[in-house]
Amino acid sequence: MNFKKNRKSKKWLKNHFKDFYIKKVQKNINKFRSKSWFKLEEINKIYKIFKNDDMTVIDLGSSPGGWSSFAASKIGNNGKIIACDILPMNPIKKVNFYQGDICNSITLNKIFQILKKTKVQIIMSDMAPNISGIKEIDIPRVIHLNKITLKLCCSLLEHNGSFLVKTFQSKELVKYYNKVNSLFKEIKISKPNASRSQSCEIYIVAKKYKN
Ligand SMILES: C[S@@+](CC[C@H](N)C(=O)[O-])C[C@H]1O[C@@H](n2cnc3c(N)ncnc32)[C@H](O)[C@@H]1O
Repeated sequence: MNFKKNRKSKKWLKNHFKDFYIKKVQKNINKFRSKSWFKLEEINKIYKIFKNDDMTVIDLGSSPGGWSSFAASKIGNNGKIIACDILPMNPIKKVNFYQGDICNSITLNKIFQILKKTKVQIIMSDMAPNISGIKEIDIPRVIHLNKITLKLCCSLLEHNGSFLVKTFQSKELVKYYNKVNSLFKEIKISKPNASRSQSCEIYIVAKKYKN
């Protein structure tokens, strides 16, 4: 038995249950779905990406549904969300969920098919690969997901649309950040309070797509 590993996972579990946001989620799981709900709420409070204006939004890495649930409450009565994740997700009103891997062309085609050539106002991704703990493996994996998300902008994001993507702090990020910067008029890095300070996750918030 690996006692060291066991001790570590016990510590992780203790921290997890102590987490203020996790407690909030547990009290109202139907509304919040996950801690990510609070991250998006905080990002939106500062950068105001959602408008009560019948928006169409793409949500990648959507399960268990925190972001979709938050977005659904902000996009107007006739707004809609196209959500996708490898894992299943329980239904949410206004959300058209497709279970699939975004790296697979079948999944991408499905998203195009659902949208029927209409453009969207926001593309957001909270996707994260399975973390191995080895930087040299995890960073390229997350950047790969980030690149696929950015590529979608060119065919699906409306002029002046917004882009939100989770990524990991790293040297390799500079090139990706510069690419996003060249495509949008405004760009910011966000580290919401709901994101653990020990975690290297950060969010790129970009607005006003130049198209
Ligand atoms: C941090 S969780 C997302 C939490 C979610 N945004 C919420 O608000 O509840 C990251 C998600 O990314 C998904 N994911 C990772 N790689 C993916 C891929 N290639 N295609 C689709 N989803 C992926 C995982 O299955 C996982 O559910």
